[in-house]
Amino acid sequence: MPMNLLHRKLCASRRWARMVAEHLPPSLDGIDLGDDVLEIGPGFGATTRVLVDLVPRLTALEIDADSVRGLRGEFGDRVEIVHGDGTRMPFPDGRFSAVVCFTMLHHVPSPDLQDKLFAEARRVLRPDGLFRGVDSQPSLMFRLLHIGDTMVVLDPATLAGRLQQAGFAEATVHPADGILAFTAH
Ligand SMILES: C[S@@+](CC[C@H](N)C(=O)[O-])C[C@H]1O[C@@H](n2cnc3c(N)ncnc32)[C@H](O)[C@@H]1O
Repeated sequence: MPMNLLHRKLCASRRWARMVAEHLPPSLDGIDLGDDVLEIGPGFGATTRVLVDLVPRLTALEIDADSVRGLRGEFGDRVEIVHGDGTRMPFPDGRFSAVVCFTMLHHVPSPDLQDKLFAEARRVLRPDGLFRGVDSQPSLMFRLLHIGDTMVVLDPATLAGRLQQAGFAEATVHPADGILAFTAH
């Protein structure tokens, strides 16, 4: 999964970790993730570090082998770190109470693969489960950061329809300030 050096440094930085620690918990206010949560694309662990204290059981699925090693070293048995691909998840149908992903969908290299990931999230969720995602929207800085990186941004106008196509009954999309958040049931 190509990420340029600057981008990797930012995602691994204390500054990014502090920003996530400040903004992620309030962004989940009023959202019940339930007892068995899957995070897709934990990367260097900034979001995982917050989630692990918010939910009873956390599994994280990461495609990049180096990141998997780092995450296992940091989290030990507090989080089950699985090496794998969100478009082909190694989990049984209907296992999780919630699936979440933060700032990772634009790294999935095509809309078709993103749709596969959405369908996989639906498959591994319980019937009453919830899929929550947050991703970036394009800006000059975002484009500069992604020189040489995968950058397939989500279109807020089509996202709810794509989630419904993937099997979700209901999807709400909230674009604001360079960020796109969605919740699907
Ligand atoms: C920009 S990082 C975001 C990490 C973290 N969520 C955060 O906000 O700090 C995106 C991560 O998603 C991972 N990723 C990309 N495609 C993936 C896929 N298909 N399945 C699982 N992980 C994936 C990348 O390897 C990378 O570690």
